[in-house]
Amino acid sequence: MKITSFDHYKEVYKHSVDQPEDFWAGIADSFLWKKKWDKVLEWNFKEPNIKWFQGAKLNITENCLDRHLETLRDKPAIIWEPNDPKEDHRVLTYRQLYKKVCQFANVLKNNGAKKGDRICIYMPMVPELAIALLACARIGAIHSVVFGGFSAQSIADRILDAECNIVITADGGFRGNKETPLKSIIDDALVRCPSVQKVIVLTRTRTPVAMIKGRDVWWEDEIKKVETQGIKDCPAEEMDAEDMLFILYTSGSTGKPKGVVHTCGGYMVYAGYTFDTSFQYQPNEVYFCTADIGWITGHSYIVYGPLSQGATSLMFEGIPTWPDAGRFWDIVDKFKVNIIYTAPTAIRSLMSFGEEPLNGKDLSSLTKLGSVGEPINEEAWHWFDEKIGHGHCPIVDTWWQTENGGHMITPIAGITPLKPGYASLPLPGVQPVLVDEKGTIIEGNEVSGNLCIRFPWPGMLRTTYGDHERCRQTYFATYPDMYFTGDGCSRDADGYYRITGRVDDVLNVSGHRIGTAEVENAINMHSTVVESAVVGYPHDIKGQGVYAFVVSPNMHDDPELTRKDIMMTVARIIGAIAKPDKIQFVSGLPKTRSGKIMRRILRKIAEGDTSNLGDTSTLLDPAVVEEIKAGAL
Ligand code: WT7
Repeated sequence: MKITSFDHYKEVYKHSVDQPEDFWAGIADSFLWKKKWDKVLEWNFKEPNIKWFQGAKLNITENCLDRHLETLRDKPAIIWEPNDPKEDHRVLTYRQLYKKVCQFANVLKNNGAKKGDRICIYMPMVPELAIALLACARIGAIHSVVFGGFSAQSIADRILDAECNIVITADGGFRGNKETPLKSIIDDALVRCPSVQKVIVLTRTRTPVAMIKGRDVWWEDEIKKVETQGIKDCPAEEMDAEDMLFILYTSGSTGKPKGVVHTCGGYMVYAGYTFDTSFQYQPNEVYFCTADIGWITGHSYIVYGPLSQGATSLMFEGIPTWPDAGRFWDIVDKFKVNIIYTAPTAIRSLMSFGEEPLNGKDLSSLTKLGSVGEPINEEAWHWFDEKIGHGHCPIVDTWWQTENGGHMITPIAGITPLKPGYASLPLPGVQPVLVDEKGTIIEGNEVSGNLCIRFPWPGMLRTTYGDHERCRQTYFATYPDMYFTGDGCSRDADGYYRITGRVDDVLNVSGHRIGTAEVENAINMHSTVVESAVVGYPHDIKGQGVYAFVVSPNMHDDPELTRKDIMMTVARIIGAIAKPDKIQFVSGLPKTRSGKIMRRILRKIAEGDTSNLGDTSTLLDPAVVEEIKAGAL
């Protein structure tokens, strides 16, 4: 939606609150439906039960592909830049992408996939990853993408939870100077997963892999089969608006990650609408989102959002600092990127290399910048603004969550007056509120509280896969009749929102969401560990670091080695992304008489602020605090 001025935004916003159904019907009208809805919205947050565009029929891939074939057939849909700058980049026009998606959709069918099946995708950032998602959607199969940094154990948990019957992977993946043996990790995962009948393996790294007869097939061979069969198109499966589109697992405050469920109609409308609105995308702009498709940002803002709007989406296989810290800027220069959407952690990491990597890079094509994943500190905001945007590119600081499907609170590029560190104002259609501990809505400005949303939006999660009660408990039970985000937030004198971070036991490490309970469970798997407590602490680059207090009385005589063993254990159980930054061995944890760990105290110690630990009189053994303080890292 094109918003013409800040006053226009306010008008549209008001309309979206006064007449939400009318507002959303207007937005949804710009998409391609096989059949329009009978009812825009039916909802209650009690159960919860949320239905958008009931009775409508669609296929999201017809919106992302077919509908552009007439007008945009030769426009680049995906530009792909490989990890290694010496390798050639690739361009897929809308026509070419359409063809490849249809081909691979037929491969899936040939391998027994059908509507409603759950398909696990564990792939590197290559165009075939986007093709795999779209091919699943084409035939009505539900994809569950697992980020390439997760371990075999994590993959197995996710495959089992969703009862996937097919896995799509690659021999390996390149990221910086590392090569990840993806297929071999899948083989380890599948030892525990009898539901998986087929594994489709893309060639990327040409590393040797085990190929099991009857189960494992090569992507390229299967494409050849489809070609010799002479099948060209693949009719798009007709989906109900509320049919599942995908599952994406995310961490919460309890041990087990939950499968967030998004549905076809509402998610399509929301991803497309927010992409178009926040970035004010103009035809022919080249848009570069640096996220990985393994996270929701990649789902919504590399694949579905941009493609549904006929945009050119640039996809990058590598990391910002390899071969050097100028990699992003080389890409911007090479493809004349207009919009770059990245994370504060990447900005902070690149800042630390100084200005040298920017020398000789032409960034003049940039018109808009975006930030996502965690609060952006003012220093990083100003560096992004001055060094990258040269002071003339609006920064959209987009606040949202996996559960939201798309942007919720964000400036609209070029429209909303900006304030560094503020996600600013809700998009039209989004109704945020701040509540106090008791759930009372805090009215007025210059206040702070817990961030909730009091009215549904089309991109919201519908359930957590296989466990609706868990969805209710996690998001809808804390405050009646509201969706609870888990974030703390303030609202300033101008009504601008500033996200202050999670108020639950969830960490945000380099923009990745990690549950402390999950990390504790992994640490406790180590043979000498009796118990542990994990908290976050401020980290210059990652935003938050992982600090683990570990009780390990009978450890190896070399504590350094035990520390490494624990790291290895966490990497095996969850994945390298969850490895603690600091491990402090302690003789006991501070607990109340009822046995509850006092995390507040541990957080303060981890932050290095031991001056005022508050009331420790309720502790079972106050002496343990002195010991922990003395040994703090
Ligand atoms: C959590 C959601 C969906 C974006 C990728 C992360 C934090 C996200 C911002 C922002 C401050 C932010 C919140 C949120 N967060 N964006 N612009 N400013 N905090 O998705 O893994 O589902 O994590 O990330 O704490 O709850 P996620």
